[in-house]
Amino acid sequence: MRVMKVTGLLKMKVQLLKTGRSLLLHALPPLLIVLLVGSGGSAMDRGELAKVLKTMPPNGPFWKYGNVVMRSKSRKAGMAPVVFSHWSHRSRYTCRVCHQELGFSMRQGDSGITRNQYLAGKFCGACHNGRIAFTVQDGPHPNCKKCHMENTKELEKQFAAFSDNLPLAAFGNGIDWAAALRDETIKPANVLNANEQTLQFPEKLRRPLRLGTASPRSDVSFSHEDHFAEMDCSSCHPDIFNIKQKSTAAFSMDSNIYGSFCGACHMQVAFPMNDCKRCHQSMTSSSDY
Ligand code: HEC
Ligand code: HEC
Ligand code: HEC
Ligand code: HEC
Ligand code: HEC
Ligand code: HEC
Repeated sequence: MRVMKVTGLLKMKVQLLKTGRSLLLHALPPLLIVLLVGSGGSAMDRGELAKVLKTMPPNGPFWKYGNVVMRSKSRKAGMAPVVFSHWSHRSRYTCRVCHQELGFSMRQGDSGITRNQYLAGKFCGACHNGRIAFTVQDGPHPNCKKCHMENTKELEKQFAAFSDNLPLAAFGNGIDWAAALRDETIKPANVLNANEQTLQFPEKLRRPLRLGTASPRSDVSFSHEDHFAEMDCSSCHPDIFNIKQKSTAAFSMDSNIYGSFCGACHMQVAFPMNDCKRCHQSMTSSSDY
C-alpha cells in the first residue's frame, strides 16, 4: 500500500519538476502524506498523526500564500480592498524592516493603517513615496489601483515571473526562502533608514535549542541564529514565546496549527506546518519531493 503511494508520488515529483511551479496551483492533499518516524522507521502513532493532519488546512495556491487583504477601511470609503503580498516585499526587505523599524503589526488588521498616516510617510508611505516605490499621493497618474486591487490577475502573473528562478519548496509560496537567503538569490535589506540601530546577535544563543517533550520522537531543533537573520527578538519574545514560562513545554501541534507559537509565522508567511520534515528532521515525509 505504502509502496504504491510512494511510486505515485515519485511520478508526481518528476512531473512537477517538468511542468513547473506555476501549474501546481494546489499542493498535495494531506491524505497523500505518509510519514515514517525515527531512524528505525517505525510509523508514528496513526491516531495522533490523523488528528494532526485532519486539522491542517490545505495549501495553495502559491501566489496567495502570505498575502494580506485589507478591506475594512477601504470598503467604508468605497475603495477596492488592498492586497499586500509578502512574497514580493520579503525578497527586498527582511521582516525586521517592516515589523520593527516601521512598526507594522504581525497581526492582520492590527496596524490600523489610514490614508492620512501613509500620506504622511508612515507604514506603506515610508517607501511608497515616489522615490523608493510608486507613490501613494494623488496626481495626474495616480497609483491607487496598484494597491486597491479590483482584480488580482496581474498580481498572479507577476508571481509566476517572480518565482521562476527561486528554489522550490513543496508548500507555502512553493519557494524555499531559507535556501534563497543562503544562496543569495535574494538579498533583502536589513534597514531602511541608515541611522537605524541593529542588535548584535548574542553568542550565547548560537547553539540551536532542542524543543519538545520527553517523547523520543520529539526532535524539533530551533535555531535562534537563522531566525535572527531576518527578525529581532521582539518578533517572538514575549508575545509568542514567554521564556520564563518555558511555554514550548506546552506545545501541541493543535496550538501551532491555529497560529500560536511557531504557527504565528509558519502558517502565514514562513513555510507552513504542512511541511513536517523541515522541523521534524527525523520524520520521513514522502510529500517532501
Ligand atoms: C514591506 C513590509 C513587510 C515585510 C518586509 C514583512 N511584512 Fe509581515 N506584514 C506586513 C503588513 C503590512 C502586514 C499586515 C499588518 C496589518 O494588517 O495590520 C503583515 C502581517 C504579517 C503577519 C500576519 C499575517 C496574517 O495573515 O495574519 C505575519 C505573521 C507576518 N507579517 C510575518 C512576517 C515575516 C515572518 C516577515 C519576514 C519573512 C515579514 N512579515 C515581512 C508587512 C511586511
Ligand atoms: C520597506 C519598503 C516598502 C513598504 C513599507 C511597502 N512597500 Fe510595497 N513595494 C516596495 C517596493 C520597493 C516595491 C517595488 C517597486 C515598485 O513597484 O515601485 C513595492 C511594490 C508594491 C506593489 C506592486 C506589486 C508588487 O508586489 O510588486 C504593491 C501592490 C505594494 N507594494 C503594496 C504595498 C502596501 C499595500 C504596503 C503597505 C501595507 C506596502 N506596499 C509597503 C516597498 C515597500
Ligand atoms: C501603496 C499602497 C496604496 C496606494 C498606492 C494607495 N493606497 Fe489607499 N490605502 C492603502 C492601505 C493599506 C489602506 C488601508 C486599507 C484598509 O484597512 O482597508 C488604504 C486605505 C485607503 C482609504 C480608506 C482609509 C482612510 O483613511 O480613509 C482611502 C479613502 C484610500 N486608501 C484612498 C486612496 C486613493 C484615493 C489612492 C490613490 C490616490 C490610494 N488610496 C492609493 C494603501 C494604498
Ligand atoms: C514549524 C515547525 C513545525 C512543523 C512544520 C511541524 N511541526 Fe510538529 N511540532 C513542532 C514543535 C515545536 C512541536 C513541539 C515539540 C515536540 O514535541 O517535538 C511539535 C510537536 C509535534 C507532535 C507531538 C510530538 C510529541 O512529542 O507528542 C506531533 C505528533 C507532530 N508535531 C506532528 C507534526 C506533523 C505530522 C507535521 C506535518 C504535518 C508537523 N508536526 C509539522 C514543530 C513543527
Ligand atoms: C522566531 C522566534 C524567536 C526569535 C526571533 C527569538 N527567539 Fe528566543 N526563543 C524562541 C523559542 C521558541 C525559545 C524556546 C522557548 C521555550 O522553550 O519555551 C526561545 C528561548 C529563548 C531563551 C531561553 C534559552 C534557553 O536556553 O532556554 C532566551 C534567553 C532567548 N530566547 C533570547 C532571545 C533573544 C535575546 C533574541 C534576539 C536576539 C531571541 N531570543 C529571538 C524563539 C525566538
Ligand atoms: C516570527 C516568525 C517566526 C516564528 C514565530 C517562527 N519562525 Fe521559523 N522561520 C521564520 C522565517 C521567516 C523563516 C525563513 C524560511 C521561510 O520563510 O520559509 C524560518 C525558518 C525556519 C527554519 C529553517 C528551515 C530551513 O529550511 O532552513 C526552521 C527549522 C524553523 N523556522 C523552525 C521554527 C520553529 C520550530 C518555530 C517554533 C518554535 C519557529 N520556526 C517559529 C519565521 C518564524
